[in-house]
Amino acid sequence: MLAPVDLHDANVFAHGIPHDAFAAMRAASALSWTPDHLVHGKGFWSVTRHAEVVEISRNTDVFSSEVGHIQIYDIDQDALPARASMIDLDPPVHTRLRRLVSAAFTPRHVQSYEAAVRKRVQRCLDQLVAAGGGDWITTVAAPIPIGVICDLLGVPEADHDYMIELSDHLVAGTSNEPLEPTAYGNTIDLRLLPFNSPAAYAMSDYARRLGEQRRTEPADDLVTRLIEAEIDGERLTDDEFTNFFRLMIFAGNETTRSSMAHLALHLQQFGDEFDRVRGERGLVASATDEVIRYSSAILYFRRTVTTPTHLGGTDLLPGDKVVMWYAGANFDETVFDEPLAFRADRPQVPAHVAFGGGGAHFCLGASLARLEIAILVEEILDRGLVLDVGEPTFVESNFVNGIEHLEVSVRGSSR
Ligand code: HEM
Repeated sequence: MLAPVDLHDANVFAHGIPHDAFAAMRAASALSWTPDHLVHGKGFWSVTRHAEVVEISRNTDVFSSEVGHIQIYDIDQDALPARASMIDLDPPVHTRLRRLVSAAFTPRHVQSYEAAVRKRVQRCLDQLVAAGGGDWITTVAAPIPIGVICDLLGVPEADHDYMIELSDHLVAGTSNEPLEPTAYGNTIDLRLLPFNSPAAYAMSDYARRLGEQRRTEPADDLVTRLIEAEIDGERLTDDEFTNFFRLMIFAGNETTRSSMAHLALHLQQFGDEFDRVRGERGLVASATDEVIRYSSAILYFRRTVTTPTHLGGTDLLPGDKVVMWYAGANFDETVFDEPLAFRADRPQVPAHVAFGGGGAHFCLGASLARLEIAILVEEILDRGLVLDVGEPTFVESNFVNGIEHLEVSVRGSSR
């Protein structure tokens, strides 16, 4: 079937996830087609059911992240290397890169960050309460995740706002608006830059300078680990290092921030469910996962077919593009009972696919994101905070389900 809306158009997501369109697609067929003329490049197949998202995610032999691009639009071959972080690569290279940092993100290791994360969360909520409210994004949802990932990487506190700015500018590359090519002193052709954004140039430049510093003054952080890492006896190249840095900043920041932004809406819309959690703390983990499913912070990732295959009743050929709409599969009514209901005690199995459908690329930061969001939920409930939430302004993007501004007023006690 033809996709009923142009999912390539960021405006389709101007008010959040287009649930009706995704429901119609899931009901009609496993795959829906968007023709070439609507896309920069080749047309693409949209996948909106849970089963096929899982099937694609777990088969990197047939569904590649490396051949082509992981976003919908096509890019030129000479633009691929500058984007090649582990998320854009297939095993075995992907596996070798992931191994360099994976120890820092195991559930056990992540638990050791608890006290530091809680301190950040408390500081942000203290500020919000003292002011009686404000912009939930700039006061709470943005500073917490960037603070946490910057601490892990070794980016000084004074530069956190700059990282937020650059990361936002990367997302702007997925909007319909053209970007200023020379911003941040960029001299590189935009088509060669990740997200086609000059912020990618600035972020690489920043990473390089921090890397140089760590070479002379090593520290106990991920930048030092990456600078000193060797794969098969070789250090990371400049591109490999700067791509790693950009991926960690972007992935650790925009995603968790979006879920935290949506949490404010959920607290107001589904207050009864959070009252249950207040009375029964054992529900924090499932409520946290429900926030993550319901917000589906990353709307999609694409794969490119490498060998002829059959998926959901359709024959696919090498070069075909399949786009996994996590934001569709997370509301698949054959998997999630009453998917549009927010249920604090929703079973965590079968799992939602907000972190991907499993397999090699499953979100490296899943435990960290869960920890951050769970602590925010706990701290809000502990203080008995009640938010009055205004109209959200959504980020213009077909890739990140972000909220740009959200005014809240807040009632309840400080600690
Ligand atoms: C609610 C928060 C988050 C969501 C919804 C999310 C979502 C995702 C998704 C959908 C993928 C791709 C999975 C796939 O292709 O199969 C991914 C990969 C990744 N995520 Fe997350 N993420 C979140 C938080 C984080 C955090 C806090 C970090 C911190 C470092 C992180 C780091 C990564 C990395 C490095 C990858 C690439 C993994 C690979 O290619 O092996 N994410 N994430």
